[in-house]
Amino acid sequence: MIRYLDEERMFLISTDNMAYVIKIEDSKLTNIYFGEKLVFDFDYIPEIKKNIFINWSWNYELSDRSENNYANTAFKVLYHDGVRDCELLYKNYEIFDNKLKIELFDEFYGMKIFLFYEVFEHDNIIKKYYEVNNISDQKINIEILKNSLYIPILEGNFNYLKGMWGHETNIVHEKINQGIKSIGSRTGNTGHLFNPYFSIDDGADEDNGNVWFGLLGWSGNWSIDVHKQDYEYINISAGYNEWDFNYILLPNESIKSPELIFGFTNEGFGESSRILHSFIRKHILRKIDRKILYNSWEATGFDVNESNQMKLAELASKIGIELFVVDDGWFGKRNDDKAGLGDWYINKEKFSRGLFPLIKKVKELGMDFGIWVEPEMVNPDSQLYRNHPDWILGYESRKKTEIRNQLVLNIIKKEVKDYIIDFMTDLLSNNDISFIKWDFNRPILESGFMNKINSKSIWIDYVESFYYILDILKRRFPYVIFESCAGGGGRIDIEILKYADQVWTSDNTNPYDRLIIQKGFSYAYPSNIMMAWVTDWAGKETYPLKYRFHSAMLGSLGIGSNLNNYSEEELNIFSNLIKDYKDIRNIVYEGDLYRVNMTDYKNLEIFEYLKENKEEGVAFIFQNPTEFDIFNVYKIKLKGLNESYVYEIENKLYSGKSLMKFGFYMQFDSDIDYLNMKKNNYMSKIIRFKLKKNI
Ligand code: DGJ
Repeated sequence: MIRYLDEERMFLISTDNMAYVIKIEDSKLTNIYFGEKLVFDFDYIPEIKKNIFINWSWNYELSDRSENNYANTAFKVLYHDGVRDCELLYKNYEIFDNKLKIELFDEFYGMKIFLFYEVFEHDNIIKKYYEVNNISDQKINIEILKNSLYIPILEGNFNYLKGMWGHETNIVHEKINQGIKSIGSRTGNTGHLFNPYFSIDDGADEDNGNVWFGLLGWSGNWSIDVHKQDYEYINISAGYNEWDFNYILLPNESIKSPELIFGFTNEGFGESSRILHSFIRKHILRKIDRKILYNSWEATGFDVNESNQMKLAELASKIGIELFVVDDGWFGKRNDDKAGLGDWYINKEKFSRGLFPLIKKVKELGMDFGIWVEPEMVNPDSQLYRNHPDWILGYESRKKTEIRNQLVLNIIKKEVKDYIIDFMTDLLSNNDISFIKWDFNRPILESGFMNKINSKSIWIDYVESFYYILDILKRRFPYVIFESCAGGGGRIDIEILKYADQVWTSDNTNPYDRLIIQKGFSYAYPSNIMMAWVTDWAGKETYPLKYRFHSAMLGSLGIGSNLNNYSEEELNIFSNLIKDYKDIRNIVYEGDLYRVNMTDYKNLEIFEYLKENKEEGVAFIFQNPTEFDIFNVYKIKLKGLNESYVYEIENKLYSGKSLMKFGFYMQFDSDIDYLNMKKNNYMSKIIRFKLKKNI
């Protein structure tokens, strides 16, 4: 709900559990509250001005670079006459539907800002962003363009997702110290090093305590800064990374900030994740029919051809796969990563009859067909590069760094955009393709420029061009499912999720490492978009097949194993586990996720998915490498159940209360080698529980 309190000159934005309050003070917009919903309107009105030592505030709703503002700057301009001091004064507001629009005006320089807030009342989320308009006849240089938030605590922890290629989205919990801590990307994509998620807590754990959290939507250079100083609350700025940022706004032009979605809960990290998951599922993702896919990348690499893909397709259909995907290597002279990128014609040595016979076969086997592309890139050893050496990003006077032997196309150029849109349109209209894995395998290093007046805008223009291309393709081919991939999980954020239906989580498919990566991922994003494959990482023997499956079943399941290397009997195990997954996948896709940390057993990782009506759920229990434990029996407590429901687990009945307070005993299927006193440390089990009616 959004209300304007006239007398107090205050905007009260509230959801079921949270309130966010903005006040007009001397024509400046200040943030006076963000946190748990209180009882009365007057609860939010500060009795005395917090900064009693001085007579100005440092909690401007948009922390502009006015010279009396010590909070981290979220918005900064350079006007044509050299003035850098903003005077963003409140003008008026509009409330419509669940939206609030507030106008700020720097009258002298003709700059208008519209702040937008959208409230998702029952989802406990607020979305905010703003638009800067130049209504003067001079250019305005925007040097910083971010959103501000104030967390009303002086001490706390910053929780974020860090990583690297092959080890994305690891959760970090860190005490906030004085100064500024910044996470972000400057590689032109969302990046592997950090993900645009944050949460702040003042001593929360998984199930209890205050957590303020949010996600930023931008698939290019971004940063989130957490600023602590003694005078003011903890302050967050989240938006375009100010590194190499400068946006020149010409008269009559406007620019929009990235969107920030944020919320608050007093029920710990678990609830903050569930709020984000449900918001993303309900308000960002399209409703699609998610399929269990087979991807041949880890089996055949670049060595794809009609006959080996047909053979894999046959095996894939036998085990219950629903979508067969050919990865890299099907086009141009692409036999390794040294050549062919950019030449999007079918490689006739590998597919002499085109893709048609393979697709026909895949369809006859009852599966959909999907294919890999990396449209933004080019190998210097390609026809495309030889024909258009001027289509790439970079500076003429500088060497262009090749990574994975490839360069980045300048998709801002119209002719490059057209080239990509045209070849993708041909590919999708001439073949029965219903899935695209869109890859981006290197960072942008030498960005270059489009024109000398506004050279740094290239970072924004690149990403906008990328969205534009995807938008056109999605409109033309609405039935095609898109997966966002960037050398693994380098392009995962809430803005890309408006275009992509799912993401490739990491190139690392080691089932144990994946538990860490996927757990971090689950702080921010829901499991239905998290692609997870069963592969032969570290060989067939290192991890039990069941463990590999269970780890991948925590998300949207795919198979990447070389099925040729498995016996009939082993393939039967594949089919049975796939059947199991089909039985529970709706709970995994749509259910509430509980990360169960058992203080008694540090070696267990438990992920519980529970249907919204609490009538059915599934818990995945993993035993991590640990010292020898011969008894192998654990007492597991579940979460989130209805206390008075009676649940059935393996033919035994329990009340919800007893499962949550006391727990149930479980044992991994024994695989102890008593003779040699060794056991496979990587054990896992799925426990299903269901409401028992009519007892
Ligand atoms: C990187 C991706 O993350 C992999 O899954 C695979 O598609 C390769 N690129 C292909 O080059």
